[in-house]
Amino acid sequence: MHTQSTEPRLDPQRFFWLSFIMALGWAGGIGVPLMAAEEFPSNFTNTGGISNTRHNLSLSTNVSQAAMITARNQYGEVCVYCHTPHGANANIAAPLWNRTFKSNTYQTYDQLRTSSLTAKVNQPGINSLTCLSCHDGTVAVDSIINMPGSGRYNANGLTSHQEAFLDSWITVPGQTSVSPNHLAMGLSSPAKSNAGCMSCHNSDIGVAHSFAIANIGTDLRDEHPIGVEIPTARIGQDFIGPTVTLDKVAFFDLNANNKPDSNEIRFFKTGDTYRVECASCHDPHGVAATHGGQIHPTFLRVKNDGSAVCLTCHAK
Ligand code: HEC
Ligand code: HEC
Ligand code: HEC
Ligand code: HEC
Ligand code: HEC
Repeated sequence: MHTQSTEPRLDPQRFFWLSFIMALGWAGGIGVPLMAAEEFPSNFTNTGGISNTRHNLSLSTNVSQAAMITARNQYGEVCVYCHTPHGANANIAAPLWNRTFKSNTYQTYDQLRTSSLTAKVNQPGINSLTCLSCHDGTVAVDSIINMPGSGRYNANGLTSHQEAFLDSWITVPGQTSVSPNHLAMGLSSPAKSNAGCMSCHNSDIGVAHSFAIANIGTDLRDEHPIGVEIPTARIGQDFIGPTVTLDKVAFFDLNANNKPDSNEIRFFKTGDTYRVECASCHDPHGVAATHGGQIHPTFLRVKNDGSAVCLTCHAK
């Protein structure tokens, strides 16, 4: 168990490492201050696959391990922060899902009451809830059910954060004494004594690049409508409908193979209707092929040059 209190946030050892990392950044002549508000110069190459993107949370290719190891368990595997081959979370119909799944209620875009919205907006569906399990800031990023190795499964983790279970993971090569906190993306974390990833990834603090825009929260009124249904009455007018409709998914079939390939924008079926969810526009693993071998840092299915993502659905 952790005995660390909230104040002061930066213990001497942590402060040393952060100063060290900051100094490296400046001395290395990166030319952009570490706290630049624009696209952050990532240590990941964004080529090939997910291991080389920010969705590799295993700390394996990250130069700032020393600072970041205080924030989440280093499981030493990429997929495990989201998937497990066994003992997956059957409370959510997402592919072999290994993450704690909370049933939060979200404020939805329609509550903003714009005069132009015609389609029905619902609570986010599964293909958004997966993303929100990190990006709404309420679940620790390392809160999983089945940790690597055998006998490291805790069914209580299906619905809630299990601090003691997560603490039992101490395998940090060469640093066996490190017992990381289990931080969520937001400002506060499930274990109340811990501040979240935003305690460093905050432009006001400037220690690491800001997560402010990625830390979406449970208020979705300021995001593109999520859980919004296809406005069927407007198809052919100012809305473009999908070209292929299957049982669970409808999509824009670029190569006419009747399969939803990762570079194809899509709608997901919940109940009787097809809806826009986070994974309509994003593939969390990255799509290398359509970007000339370069994965778009924002994991878009289609590069948004000339607003190509938007113009897939909107005839404007
Ligand atoms: C940051 C979370 C995350 C990580 C890490 C991750 N995935 Fe996924 N994966 C997802 C989500 C979310 C979906 C569902 C996407 C959707 O809604 O369509 C998914 C779907 C899948 C699917 C089924 C649909 C598809 O795209 O083919 C496979 C297979 C898969 N992931 C394999 C992997 C493997 C293998 C790894 C590790 C190399 C991995 N994933 C790492 C989040 C992740
Ligand atoms: C296991 C936790 C986790 C899951 C699940 C997850 N993400 Fe992320 N995501 C992160 C973290 C951590 C970052 C790094 C934030 C950053 O660099 O700003 C990130 C970064 C991103 C970024 C790039 C942000 C930037 O700063 O450029 C996008 C876009 C994104 N995620 C979308 C998604 C979508 C869409 C899904 C679901 C299909 C998803 N994520 C699922 C943890 C997660
Ligand atoms: C003690 C401060 C601290 C905390 C807390 C912290 N980080 Fe970081 N993180 C850093 C530093 C320093 C960097 C390197 C500078 C940068 O990329 O902004 C970094 C970089 C990153 C990167 C970008 C890597 C890259 O090269 O693109 C990701 C992703 C990330 N952290 C995820 C997280 C997540 C997820 C959490 C919470 C579970 C977290 N961090 C908590 C200090 C911290
Ligand atoms: C209608 C398409 C669409 C949907 C739906 C969508 N996004 Fe995005 N998202 C985008 C585009 C376009 C960008 C901007 C990418 C860029 O600037 O290169 C983006 C950027 C982001 C970023 C990076 C921060 C930023 O604004 O630059 C994150 C994180 C993100 N999305 C997460 C999500 C999550 C989580 C969901 C579901 C709650 C979601 N997105 C739903 C299209 C979408
Ligand atoms: C997968 C399809 C899809 C994509 C891609 C998409 N949208 Fe939408 N968008 C919708 C749907 C569905 C609605 C609801 C339309 C309605 O109410 O008639 C909507 C509504 C909107 C609205 C109107 C909101 C209101 O209050 O009336 C705006 C503005 C918008 N989208 C902008 C964008 C932008 C900008 C992008 C690109 C970043 C984008 N959309 C990408 C499906 C999409």
